Amino acid sequence: MCGIVGFIGNQDAKEILLQGLEKLEYRGYDSAGIYIIDEANKGHLFKEKGRIAALREVVNNEVASSKGIGHTRWATHGVPSVRNAHPHQSTSGRFTLVHNGVIENYQAVSDAYLSGIELVSDTDTEVIVQLIAWFAEQEELSTLDAFKKAIVTLKGSYALALMDAENPDVIYVAKNKSPLLIGKGEDFNVVCSDAMAMIQVTNQFVELMDGEVVTVTKEQIEIENLAGDKIEREAYTAELDLNDIEKGTYAYYMLKEIDEQPAVMRKILQHYQNTEGQLEIDSVITETLLASDRVYIVACGTSYNAGWVGKQLIENLTNIPTEVHLSSEFGYNMPLLTEKPFFIFLTQSGETADSRQVLVKTNELGHPALTITNVQGSTLSREAQFTLLLHAGPEIAVASTKAYTAQIAVLAILAEVVGKSKGLASDVDMIHELGIVAAGMETIVDNKEYLEELAANYLSISRNAFYIGRGMDYYVAMEAALKLKEISYVQTEGFAAGELKHGTIALIEEGTPVLALITEESIAGHTRGNVEEVNSRGAHSLVIAMENVAREGDQFVLPQVHALLTPLISVIPTQLLSYYTSLHRGNDVDKPRNLAKSVTVE
Ligand code: F6R
Repeated sequence: MCGIVGFIGNQDAKEILLQGLEKLEYRGYDSAGIYIIDEANKGHLFKEKGRIAALREVVNNEVASSKGIGHTRWATHGVPSVRNAHPHQSTSGRFTLVHNGVIENYQAVSDAYLSGIELVSDTDTEVIVQLIAWFAEQEELSTLDAFKKAIVTLKGSYALALMDAENPDVIYVAKNKSPLLIGKGEDFNVVCSDAMAMIQVTNQFVELMDGEVVTVTKEQIEIENLAGDKIEREAYTAELDLNDIEKGTYAYYMLKEIDEQPAVMRKILQHYQNTEGQLEIDSVITETLLASDRVYIVACGTSYNAGWVGKQLIENLTNIPTEVHLSSEFGYNMPLLTEKPFFIFLTQSGETADSRQVLVKTNELGHPALTITNVQGSTLSREAQFTLLLHAGPEIAVASTKAYTAQIAVLAILAEVVGKSKGLASDVDMIHELGIVAAGMETIVDNKEYLEELAANYLSISRNAFYIGRGMDYYVAMEAALKLKEISYVQTEGFAAGELKHGTIALIEEGTPVLALITEESIAGHTRGNVEEVNSRGAHSLVIAMENVAREGDQFVLPQVHALLTPLISVIPTQLLSYYTSLHRGNDVDKPRNLAKSVTVE
């Protein structure tokens, strides 16, 4: 949520900042801004409501600059507007700041220190920059000390990049809970919320920890803690392929990412196989999981939906009871835990604040935790005892597709390996079955034109819709509904097929689209019965059924895969239906309204 960039060196900072912000737009896209300092040390501030493309229109290309900071916003305090867009400045214009996060005590800080100052925005960020100015100007502290004192005074989450017009060759940086990296170059250094933003100029990055303050010049990166002790930290090489973050010939990242899923399945298999061609997971993880008496999967949104499939996989393949919880509820409403719980945090970004607050608590309680994430070095990965990576490659569209299927595949591999080391008999050869899944996914993504037609016929004008299913199909129905509503804005419910008649069927009227998922033989008849019930009340029903249970007249037939892996296949047509519905309605598929990819506020 919110993206930050900074550049200091000898090149054209303006273009590097703007390109970096374009790469970070997935983190928020309601307004944006850059602050650059020209060769005569004069600062220039450009801000605009909307996307980076709109910001480009207002940036004065005549200004030459080799240093500056920038921001793309997802509004928390104050509506999206030029006034509330970052960077924010102190009244004198001396200090300029960009911020990602939420300051909880901004009102109290403002009352205590800033009563004589007229604030010009509705943001918590302006309070930070005015506070730094207050410490620097009223208490005559150096910029670094004023910055540190402000940090100690503030409560909440933040990634900050600050410039001082009186000392323009430095960017001051700090973080707490929100992500921030420093990139190292030859004669320049950069700051960014995600390595992706600056990979075109460097692949060498230095991680920052909470409670550290960094002074970045074009030659140096000096990290220290709040007590002033210097900290040495080596840079790591970000393994990001530029092709992974380009759209190529695709109109939208979402379609590219849907198409990448067969390749992701194969990549995951490759990463989790040892030299003998056996699936392998770090034995400390499997032993700790085996020693536990219950697994608690904690996640949000799409990851939560993947968690339900994970529960089925873990219980079926390991016999360990498994619960699935929403992070935003779990932290405040913790269930009674068993004696030996094992926590799995499912999070594609590894930065979700709701999940992190639970991890902080489970760490305090001393319980083992495994983060399954797509982002190496992300906060939840660093803070959990164990990590398993998704290897899905960067997912840029806000609506998650390949990270969802990657989460299920990694959970399937984990469950298979743990079950085997427990000595349980299983009919699943996971390498073989995931190979079949990859091939099945390919046949579905090759059938796009037909799915586009179905989207046009069933969903292009309706205001609401239902996905229904039982068992695994119910879990996929929840994900399919989330995907449809978040990018097409069609109000959609993912419903347990048998539960409809207990109240919600009242919503079915002439033409209501009801999309039924049917993949399992033992419950197929019941779900078909539920389809009949909605049809008799006027529903416009569409059946997506797996080969073994398909009937003539079903609108979409799924290639056959193992019963435990059906979600990996049945979700694909639902992703494509969402994509085409959004496209037909003229929405920005990759950047749906009100959303951001990385949700770093609770
Ligand atoms: C929807 C989507 C979100 C995320 C949720 C959690 O397409 O992507 O629902 O799944 O915000 O994010 P992570 O998985 O990064 O913790």
